[in-house]
Order: sequence, then C-alpha cells, then structure tokens
Amino acid sequence: MIVLFERATMGYIDVHCHVLPGVDDGSSDMDETMEMLRIAERSGISDMIVTPHYKQGRVGTPRKVIGEMIDKVEQYAKLSGITVKLHPGTEVYYHSSLEEKLESGWLATMNDTEFVLVEFSPFETFPYIRNAIDDVFSLGYKPVLAHVERYQCMLGSVEHVRILHEMGCRIQVNASSVDGSYGFKVKHFIKKLLKEQLVDYVGTDAHDQKSRIPDMEKCAVQIRKVCDEGYADDLLGQNATRDFLN
Ligand SMILES: [Fe+2]
Repeated sequence: MIVLFERATMGYIDVHCHVLPGVDDGSSDMDETMEMLRIAERSGISDMIVTPHYKQGRVGTPRKVIGEMIDKVEQYAKLSGITVKLHPGTEVYYHSSLEEKLESGWLATMNDTEFVLVEFSPFETFPYIRNAIDDVFSLGYKPVLAHVERYQCMLGSVEHVRILHEMGCRIQVNASSVDGSYGFKVKHFIKKLLKEQLVDYVGTDAHDQKSRIPDMEKCAVQIRKVCDEGYADDLLGQNATRDFLN
C-alpha cells in the first residue's frame, strides 16, 4: 500500500527512452509506442523525456519534429486512457562540432533546458570523454552522461565517475543495469556508485515492448534497498523534476 501511495503522489521520471515511433532504432510504430507507454505507466512512470538518437550524418530528428510527434503520441495516448506525459530530448552521440546544431535550436536538449544527454562509443577512452564533457560545458550547456555503466573506461572505475561528477557532469544509469539484467559486474559497479551518491538520474533506455522495455519498478526496489530514502527519491524523480521539468 505504501508503494501505491508513493506512485500516486510522485511518479518515476524516465530521463532516457526511445518511444517515439519510427525515428530511430526504438519503437517501430504507434502501436508499439502505445504498448510501451502502457508498460511505463504500469511500472509507475509518470513522465518520460523522449531521447531519439542523434548521430552526425547518420540519424537525427529536429526539435520541431520531436514536438510534433509528442503531440501526436499524446493524442493517441489520451484516447487509450494513458496519462504518461512526454517531454522533448535527444541522445546526442558526441562529436566536436555540436555548437551549430545546439545554438540553432535544431537539437532538442532535455525539455529545452541547458542539459544535454550525451553518449559515446562503449570503447571510448576516459581522457576523450573528460575532454568532451569539458567541451559541452564550454558551449554553455550542462552534460548528462548517458548510461555511465556502458563505457569500458568507466565500468569498475568509481574514480573516473567521480572526476566527471565533480566537474558538474550529471550521471545517468539505465534501470535494467541497476536491477541486474546486465549481469552482476554491472549491478555491483552501480551499487558502488549509488553508495557514493554519484548517480543523478535513472533512465530506462527503452527501445521496444519486448526486451528493452520502459520498466522502472525492479530498479526502484533495488535503489530503495541500497540508498537512503531522500537520495532514492532524488534518483527516481526529484532530481529530474528539479532540473528538467520546472
Ligand atoms: Fe539510448
């Protein structure tokens, strides 16, 4: 009963997902999007920042189109009785000339704030990532490192994560990595980050309705087991609400 009460008063915020239909390797069509939103709602998610991939010269959706698609998806959702709220964003694959796309407003930042969700190759080196994070700051934006546990140079190195966090970079982990779906090593690493309060947000990084689903329920159980109540609330929604939704 306590869990239901918590959900009713503050839903989880998913800061990273691919639920817009047909724009990247996420949801394939509107039917799949609706099913993904139903899964999200059942797991306690109230808000999702939609973050289609942007990779220079390969894939990308302009802010204007993301807004139009959100309106369309929300119309369908309303007809289906789904109340999850969507907000614009992008998962930006870092490259050294992002300035024009950001400054022109072509790229969607996290709900039009100064925060930008940034990803790298899983095999990227730590000095490259650190310099890239510095570069995003120098452009006047605040980087959010997508799924920190995915990079070989970060996994197992709490110190590397601490360095980025102390620079002011926000740290996001994937819900499925927290709950152990990606193995013990990843789960254990995230547990260490949580103990040191080096994580800021959770995202589902959901891509479909079958295997990479928008579920935060199991992850929330693990977070509440490892973290104190205040930090758990921050991770599951308060930080994202403060930074992106106000
Ligand atoms: Fe993603």
